Amino acid sequence: MPGFSIRTYGSAVLRKRCKPLKKITDEDRRVLENMVHAMIASKGLGLAAPQVGIGKRLVVMLAGSEVLKLVNPCIYKRKGRIVMKEGCLSFPGIFADIRRSREVQFGALNEKGDKLKIKAAELAARIIQHEIDHLNGVLFCDRMGIIDKIKMRKALRDLKKQTESSK
Ligand code: CO
Repeated sequence: MPGFSIRTYGSAVLRKRCKPLKKITDEDRRVLENMVHAMIASKGLGLAAPQVGIGKRLVVMLAGSEVLKLVNPCIYKRKGRIVMKEGCLSFPGIFADIRRSREVQFGALNEKGDKLKIKAAELAARIIQHEIDHLNGVLFCDRMGIIDKIKMRKALRDLKKQTESSK
């Protein structure tokens, strides 16, 4: 089974707003399974479908010792704010402090189409916010503070160039 390769900053697909799924097919379930493999192989904590070149609202993530496969995830409640160091598999070697909600409640479907309601705090809350951003074409560099944006400018520009030249 061919694995997914992870798209890096500069790939057009990372800037697309993904479409919600109307129904979940076997192909979608295969995509979710392959995304789990890609996430674990790259030692990531979460992965969104556009990061493997697929413009659908699919996310996989770690929540404690569990692996969640989420379809059409959507946050409906937020509480508190917290700044934490964050990275992204599409930005190898780049880390920055990002301010996000401390706790969130979100809904999603699982791969069978059952409705899930999940309360997440701290790391899990951070991961789901980061991954839902991906589904909207929003990247963590968009949320960096001005100081980090300046500090990371060269690294970001280099990564973008490298991505564009490897096409
Ligand atoms: Co990411």
